[in-house]
Amino acid sequence: MESTSFILFGATGDLANRKIYPALFNLYMDKKLPASFSIIGVGREPLSKEAYQANIIDSLYKFSRHSTDDKRQKLAFVKQFSYISLDLTKEASYQELSTHVRRLESENKLQENRIFYLSVAPELFDVITTNIKQSGLANTKGWKRVMIEKPFGHDLQSARQLNHIVQQAFSEEEIFRIDHYLGKPMVQNLETLISVNPILQSIWRKDMISNVQITANETVGVGSRAAYYEQTGALRDMVQNHMLQLVMMTAVQMAEREDAAKLRSEKINLMKAIQIIPERDVVRGQYARLDVDHHSVITGYREEAGVDSFSTVDTFVAARLTIQTPLWEGIPFFIRTGKRLNKKETKIVVEFKNLSGKTNEGEPNLLIIRINPNDGVTLQLNSKHPLTGELEPIQINFSSSDREIPEAYEYLLADAIKGNPFYFTHWNEVELAWQAVQPIIENFETNAIPLHLYPAGSNGPEAANQLVNTHGYKWW
Ligand code: BG6
Repeated sequence: MESTSFILFGATGDLANRKIYPALFNLYMDKKLPASFSIIGVGREPLSKEAYQANIIDSLYKFSRHSTDDKRQKLAFVKQFSYISLDLTKEASYQELSTHVRRLESENKLQENRIFYLSVAPELFDVITTNIKQSGLANTKGWKRVMIEKPFGHDLQSARQLNHIVQQAFSEEEIFRIDHYLGKPMVQNLETLISVNPILQSIWRKDMISNVQITANETVGVGSRAAYYEQTGALRDMVQNHMLQLVMMTAVQMAEREDAAKLRSEKINLMKAIQIIPERDVVRGQYARLDVDHHSVITGYREEAGVDSFSTVDTFVAARLTIQTPLWEGIPFFIRTGKRLNKKETKIVVEFKNLSGKTNEGEPNLLIIRINPNDGVTLQLNSKHPLTGELEPIQINFSSSDREIPEAYEYLLADAIKGNPFYFTHWNEVELAWQAVQPIIENFETNAIPLHLYPAGSNGPEAANQLVNTHGYKWW
């Protein structure tokens, strides 16, 4: 791998500490970083290089999957880090940064290959990319890339504006938009699972599949993120990005694996073919206070610190969508996601048709792909109970919980360093995803889609059950 400078904006933030440093360290331990790699942390607070490095070591102890207690490895790793404190809204800061980057490149004899990682509030995306260009930081003799966290825009119009600004400094090939669901090992396994198994391939057909259900439920509430969440809600936070990416990754069919351009064009075609009818096929929910007993309650969304007591922000969304392509036409996809539900669970369930036409053929066959927690695959079939002779569902199970699995950020960082865009989102995908949710955003704003309150800790609003029941299904 070519020598690289990695410039991390937001170097003292939560994401950097929890995800980025541990992921970089794991890559370092697995020898998947360039031999010459300089990491420049950029943050607001003044911090000496030594204090910065000590913070990183702390975060490695807390969050790295490498259980090694070997402090020497950690010390050797953090030697590659330097820190610079800057006010990112000021032009002069970028001149200072440029001087710092170039000095390190020359001292360490690095090629001018630069990755800019924007782990900052989205309001800063445009000012940072504009100044990277104006300060000359983007003029390199090597390559340059920018990694951008979500949310990419607040709606269709703001996403377009942001993209226009980012593309003044970086070309589409140089922009690595992160959707961390695309870094999850089971999501990266989806297309392979179908394409290399003739058994699954043979049933991956419209006349075999009855419906697909994608769930991303969480037990946590809004926590300390009320300020962000009040502007966002589940639709923008989860559906526009993670849920639609899961739909595309489930539905995509690839002739050649590992071809990024092909994957992106297939996903774009799928996104163009997705239809959601907002008024009929979307359920909006919000968690409400639950009195558990005389002594304890689970707080409702409107009672959370920082939330407006009349807030109508969605903490739950379920929807039915269809994909108008030859393979998927007529097969409903149901998606649901929410906070403060009874279980943390991300999974894809493919329900197969009962082809016999008989009503006593047991439960439908299911392929369950578990993404989080404990990724794995389950095939549910029917069998005869040895004593009663009754049909009973049996499950064939694979779970990777006993393996040490890399985290999403490790895969994503390794790919960005190599320049592999396979699991990053192309602008066309992001734009089409905003186009798909924009009518829903508008219907939420005008209350054309009613808000259903659901008790905290439940499995969501009853309306979400009705959404699938009216089509003859139930949620798995
Ligand atoms: C983030 C959302 O993108 O994904 C959070 O902003 C959400 O609100 C999180 O909690 C869920 O990610 P995961 O990996 O825990 O399913």
